[in-house]
Amino acid sequence: MASPTALISETQAWKDLKGHVEDINKTHLRDLMSDAHRCESMMLEFEGLLLDYSRQRATVETMDKLLNLAKAAQLPEKISRMFNGEHINSTENRSVLHVALRAPKDAVIKADGKNVVPEVWNVLDKIKDFSDKIRSGSWVGATGKPLKDVIAIGIGGSFLGPLFVHTALQTDPESAECAKGRQLRFLANIDPVDVARNISGLNPETTLVVVVSKTFTTAETMLNARTLRNWITTALGAPAVAKHMVAVSTNLALVEKLGIDPNNAFAFWDWVGGRYSVCSAVGVLPLSLQYGFSVVEKFLKGASSIDQHFQSTPFEKNIPVILGLLSVWNVSFLGYPARAILPYSQALEKFAPHIQQACELSLSFVSMESNGKGVSIDGLPLPFETGEIDFGEPGTNGQHSFYQLIHQGRVIPCDFIGTVKSQQPVYLEGEVVSNHDELMSNFFAQPDALAYGKTPEQLQKENVSENLIPHKTFSGNRPSLSLLLPELSAYNVGQLLAIYEHRVAVQGFVWGINSFDQWGVELGKVLATQVRKQLHSSRTQGAAPEGFNYSTTTLLKRYLETSPEPKM
Ligand code: F6P
Repeated sequence: MASPTALISETQAWKDLKGHVEDINKTHLRDLMSDAHRCESMMLEFEGLLLDYSRQRATVETMDKLLNLAKAAQLPEKISRMFNGEHINSTENRSVLHVALRAPKDAVIKADGKNVVPEVWNVLDKIKDFSDKIRSGSWVGATGKPLKDVIAIGIGGSFLGPLFVHTALQTDPESAECAKGRQLRFLANIDPVDVARNISGLNPETTLVVVVSKTFTTAETMLNARTLRNWITTALGAPAVAKHMVAVSTNLALVEKLGIDPNNAFAFWDWVGGRYSVCSAVGVLPLSLQYGFSVVEKFLKGASSIDQHFQSTPFEKNIPVILGLLSVWNVSFLGYPARAILPYSQALEKFAPHIQQACELSLSFVSMESNGKGVSIDGLPLPFETGEIDFGEPGTNGQHSFYQLIHQGRVIPCDFIGTVKSQQPVYLEGEVVSNHDELMSNFFAQPDALAYGKTPEQLQKENVSENLIPHKTFSGNRPSLSLLLPELSAYNVGQLLAIYEHRVAVQGFVWGINSFDQWGVELGKVLATQVRKQLHSSRTQGAAPEGFNYSTTTLLKRYLETSPEPKM
C-alpha cells in the first residue's frame, strides 16, 4: 500500500499495469470483441442504465490489475473520507460535500462535526417557496407585472452546470409543460455582445435577474451584474432592484454591497466546489424558477441515487469507479491524451462543455479544472500525465465534423451516450425507421466502426482500386464505451451528472492529485488586473503602456490607438 506521500506510480500495482501494456498492445479489439464471456463481464447495469465497456482496450486481467491499483491508491478510504466531510481539498482546507446537496432530508452528512443536511434543506425550502411565488405571480415586479423571464448571470461553475441541465430539460415533455410561457437565459461572458443577446426581446418589467457567484468577486459576473442592474434601474428606478434582482452566493456581505436585499439571497457553502455546485442554489434556483421545484427535486433524486450507488457498490460493479479506472488506464498507461464525449441526444449538447470544466479549457469543465494538475496532492511533481482534454458534440453532428480524425487520425477514447426513448419522438409514415431509430443506428454503428475498422483485404474483396486502399483502410482498435439511458428525464439527467462527477473524483483519487482546487486559473486573472489598471490610466490620463513585454506593449498600443471605446 502506498504511504501518503508516495506517488501512485511507485506502487507495484502501477508497475504491473505498465508491464501489462505490452500484452494489450498484442491484442486487437476485433479479437477481444469475439470473446462473449469477456464482453458479458464488461456490462454494468443500474436502475435501467446500461454501461458497456467491452470496446475498451482491456481484458479481464486488465480490470483485475486496475482494481488492484484502486486498492493501492486507497480508493475506498478516499471515497469514505469525502462522504465523511474530511478536508480532502487540503490546499483550500475544505470538505468536498456536493453529495450533501442532493441527500434526502433525513440523511446525516457532517462537515466539521455538524450535520449540513438541515441547512441544505432550509435553502431548498426557501427556493421552493420563492420560485412558487414567482411562478404563481404572487411576487410581482416594480410595476405590478408577473416576472416570467429570468436571466441568470454567472460564469464557470456558476453557469455551465445549470446551462447543461436547462438544455437537457427544455425538450423533456414533463419539464417543458411546467416551463410554458417562461424563459431562462444565461449571461456569462463579459463580452458586451452577450449582454445584448440576453436582454434582446426582454422587458425589464417582467424580468428577474439572478446573480450567481460563489465568491461574489468574479470580475466578469460582477460587471455583468452592474450592467443589468443599470438596465433595470434606468427603466424602472433604483428601488426596482429589490423586486427584480436576487443572488446566489456564499458571500452575503458582498451581495448586500451590490444593493441586493440579503433576504433575497440564497446561500451555499465553501464545501461546494464551483464546478460541483449545480445541485446547490446555483442550479436549483434558476431551474426551479423555470421548471418548478418538483421537477428539480427529481433531478436531485437522480443524482442522489448515483451517490448511494457510488458509496456502497463493490468496485467491480460500481459505474463511476469502473469509468474512472478506465480513464486512468487510457491516459496514464495507453497514453491517450483526450476523450470525446458524444451524446446521441441534442438535449445533451451542453453536457460536454460542462464536463470539460474539470480541466478548464472551457470545453469540458468538471473534468479539466479538476484533474488538469501537474503535482500530487502533497506537491510532488508528477512523472505521469493526468487529466484528459475533453471535448464533444452531439451525434450525429460530430460525425460530419471531427469524426474523420477519430476514425483514421489520432486515437481518442470515446464515450457514446444514448437514450432508449426519445424526448420528442417522430415517425413519418413510409420511412424505414423513426427519427430516433435513425439517430440510434449511428449510436450503435460508430463504436463498432472504431473497434473493428476495415482491412486492406476487405477492401480488395470489394474491388476497391489499389490507389484508394490506403485511404479507405481503417486501423480499428480504437476504444470507446457506450452508456445507454432508459430516457432523458430530470431523474436521468441527475444520474448522468453524478456519474461524471464521481468518475472525475475517482481519477483524481487514483492519481493522488487534488481534484477540488483550481489554482491554475489564478495567474491569468492577476495579469488581467494589471492590464485593466493600464487601460484605465491610458483612457483617463493618456498614460502610455508601461511594465509589459514588447509584444503586449505593441498589442496594447494598437488597441488603444485604434479602439473606438469612449474616453472616460
Ligand atoms: O475561474 C474559475 C472559477 O473560479 C471556477 O472554479 C468557478 O466556478 C468560476 O470561476 C466562477 O466563480 P464564482 O462562482 O465565485 O463567481
